[in-house]
Amino acid sequence: MKTIGIVGATGLVGQVLLEKLLEIPECRSKSFVLFSSDRTAGCLCEMGNLKLKVESLTDDWLKQVDFWFFATPKHIAAHWIPIILTNSCANCIDGSSAFRLHREVPLIIPEINMHQLTPAERLVASPNCTTTIALMALWPLHKIFHLKRFWVHSYQSASGMGNDGIRELEEQVKSWSEGKNYANVRNFHKPLAFNAIPQIGNLNADGISEEEHKLVLESRKILGDANLKIFANCVRIPVLRCHSMEINAEFDKRLDLDMVKMALKSAEGLHWCEEDYPTALEYSKKNVCGVGRLRYDNALGNGIAMWVVGDQLLKGAALNMVQIFQRWVTL
Ligand SMILES: NC(=O)c1ccc[n+]([C@@H]2O[C@H](COP(=O)([O-])OP(=O)(O)OC[C@H]3O[C@@H](n4cnc5c(N)ncnc54)[C@H](OP(=O)(O)O)[C@@H]3O)[C@@H](O)[C@H]2O)c1
Repeated sequence: MKTIGIVGATGLVGQVLLEKLLEIPECRSKSFVLFSSDRTAGCLCEMGNLKLKVESLTDDWLKQVDFWFFATPKHIAAHWIPIILTNSCANCIDGSSAFRLHREVPLIIPEINMHQLTPAERLVASPNCTTTIALMALWPLHKIFHLKRFWVHSYQSASGMGNDGIRELEEQVKSWSEGKNYANVRNFHKPLAFNAIPQIGNLNADGISEEEHKLVLESRKILGDANLKIFANCVRIPVLRCHSMEINAEFDKRLDLDMVKMALKSAEGLHWCEEDYPTALEYSKKNVCGVGRLRYDNALGNGIAMWVVGDQLLKGAALNMVQIFQRWVTL
């Protein structure tokens, strides 16, 4: 494989993706082609020694790229990926939600279900950011105690809505500090500055938000249990980067906190915070997710509560995609 294409390279996930790929020595010898919408195509992307003009994606590129990463809105991935798979031999990793729940597309968190990926696969999906961060902490416990049901209450940052989400929050904070009205709402359902919004995505007829729906369905697919009982409550808060969440979980097997602690401490990609607890500021730009404030949840049988934080642009998106790529190419 010689040429790697990143579609959505000017976006928040795309930029972190490029940064992470360039950290891999074998990738530095590859050619990169970066794509964006017509709005920013033509601009120059500079990162380290790389200086590249960003392109518009057209059919002419189909035969010129050997491996594709998609970090675009879902409808763009839904349009282009089938065209790529039909008209070339290239493989794709998609960070959007376009194919995550398709039965034939593996939805992968390498620490959990890498075994579901075979060399014959052409398309792999990377899960929703909140799902990935929650499962990084739940998986090591599920392996030992077996999950019966769990609840996730998330506190999600503005950058979960991409570049424009950050811009909107910054504009609102600026307007507020100048004493002006800051009710200009584009990406969120209400003004986000100095606020907490208990809705991420549209609500369905049962009052469940799109983000909550993703967390439930994707977790079931990754853990391979279509009937697992899961409740999610996703809240947007005025934090720039990193998602935080309170998780309450009930297990089939009897547990004690020392055993739970041991399992969390030895889990790959997770940092157990013994003395302290993780926060969004401290875990921004960190590859690992943090977990702390572990305690029994006495409202449940064999229940625990814990506080989990992860950088949703890294393990929740770009890092997970790069980890899939690194392991996939060696299969
Ligand atoms: N942000 C997160 O925390 C996060 C976490 C997990 C998954 N995701 C998923 O990752 C994807 C990207 O999210 P993001 O936060 O990086 O969004 P973003 O900052 O808004 O970036 C979107 C990217 O897609 C490009 N794009 C838009 N329309 C396009 C088109 N017609 N053709 C080619 N490229 C196009 C944009 O180009 P322009 O710069 O020209 O607009 C930009 O590069 C989304 O599906 C999102 O759901 C995001």
